[in-house]
Amino acid sequence: MQDRVSAAIIGASGYTGGELLRLALAHPNLEVRQVTSERLDGQFVHFTHPNLRPSTGSGRPERVEGRRRTQLKFVRAEAVEKCDLLFLGLPHGSAMARIDHLATLADRIVDLSADFRLRDAADYDTWYGKPHGNPAWLAKFVYGLPELHRHDLKTANYVSGVGCNATATTLAIWPLAAAGLIDTSRGVICEVKVGSSEGGAASNDSTHHPERSGVMRSFAPTGHRHTAEVLQALKLRNVVTDVHLSATAVDNVRGVLATAHVFVTPGTAEKDVWKAYREAYNHEPFVRIVKEKTGLYRYPEPKILSGSNYADVGFEFDPKTNRVVALCAIDNLMKGAAGTALQCANIMMGWDETLGLDFPGLHPI
Ligand SMILES: NC(=O)c1ccc[n+]([C@@H]2O[C@H](COP(=O)([O-])OP(=O)(O)OC[C@H]3O[C@@H](n4cnc5c(N)ncnc54)[C@H](OP(=O)(O)O)[C@@H]3O)[C@@H](O)[C@H]2O)c1
Repeated sequence: MQDRVSAAIIGASGYTGGELLRLALAHPNLEVRQVTSERLDGQFVHFTHPNLRPSTGSGRPERVEGRRRTQLKFVRAEAVEKCDLLFLGLPHGSAMARIDHLATLADRIVDLSADFRLRDAADYDTWYGKPHGNPAWLAKFVYGLPELHRHDLKTANYVSGVGCNATATTLAIWPLAAAGLIDTSRGVICEVKVGSSEGGAASNDSTHHPERSGVMRSFAPTGHRHTAEVLQALKLRNVVTDVHLSATAVDNVRGVLATAHVFVTPGTAEKDVWKAYREAYNHEPFVRIVKEKTGLYRYPEPKILSGSNYADVGFEFDPKTNRVVALCAIDNLMKGAAGTALQCANIMMGWDETLGLDFPGLHPI
C-alpha cells in the first residue's frame, strides 16, 4: 500500500477549507496533519464543521482510524509544520503576502484564493483594484482547472484555485471556443446565479438572514472579477472577444448556474455545437453533458450537485439568431473550489484524478 502523503489546510475553518477537509479525510492517500484557524485555535474542528464530528462507536479498524483523524483541533497558521502538500483557503490577498514563507513548508501548494489565478500582473490592477503584492510568483502557478490545464498540472508544484463563477462560465462556453465557433464580433454575455456560501463563512450586513433570505439580488451586474479568468481561458484558444458577466444572488446555500449567450459563426448547425461539446468533454471524468428532450432534468441544475464534483453542462441552439445558450451548473464549494483543488492535487501527485471525489450528490435534496 502506498504511503500516505502528509497535508495541512491553512484557513480550514472557512467554507472551502471545511469542504477540503471533508474530502481529504476520506482520501485514501492523504493524511491531514494540521488545520488552521486564527479565531478558533485549540478548538475541535467538528465544533465548526459538525458534519466531521467523530463517530462514538469503535468497531472496524477503518472506523477507529476515521475517529482519530476527525479529532483534529485547529492550530494557528504560524504553527504549521512541514508537510508534503499544503492547501490554502485564505481570503484574497493573504496568500500572496506570505507565499515566500509558505513555500518553505511544502513542495506542493494548492491555493484556493484568487491570488495566483491570473498570469498577467496588470490584470490585478484592472480587476482587483490594486497591484499584485508578489507578481514574481504568478508565473510559478498553474491555473487549477483540469479541463483546460491537465497537462501542465502534472508537473506543477504550485496550483491556483479557480473562481467558482469563472469555472461555471468557462466550462459552459469552452467547447465553443475550442471549436472556433464563437462569433467574436458580438461578445459573450453570461449571467451567473449564485448561492450564499460563495461569500464565505464570515457574516456581514448583506448575509444577515432577514436581508439574505428569499433574495434574487443583482450584486455585480458589471465588473465581476471572475471575468478576468474567463478572458484568460478564452485567450488559450486565441479567442479575443468581450465577455460580459453579471452575477445575481439567489436563495440557495450552494450552487452556481451560469447561463451564457454566445453568438456563433454564420453557417453553424446544431450538430456542430453537439460535436464541439462532445469533443471537449467526452473524456472528462467530472463534466457531464446534460441535454435531454423530455423529463424534469433536461438542463443542468445545481441542486442535485450539492457536495459532488460534477459540472453539468448543456446548451440550446437557436438557429434563427445563431445564438447558443450555454449552461453550466456546479456546487461552488466543490467543482468551484475544494473539489477541483483536490482533483488538481490528485493530478499533481500522479494519482487517479478522481480519487476521493466519487460522491454523486443527493436526490431528492
Ligand atoms: N466560497 C466559495 O464559494 C469560494 C469558491 C472558490 C474560491 N473561493 C476562495 O477561497 C478562499 C476561501 O474562501 P472561503 O469561502 O472558504 O472563505 P471563509 O469561509 O471566509 O474562510 C476564510 C478562512 O481564512 C482564515 N483566515 C482569515 N484571515 C486569516 C489570516 N489573516 N490569517 C490566517 N487565516 C485567516 C479564516 O480563519 P479564522 O477562523 O481565523 O477566521 C478561515 O478559515 C477565498 O480566497 C475565496 O475567494 C471561495
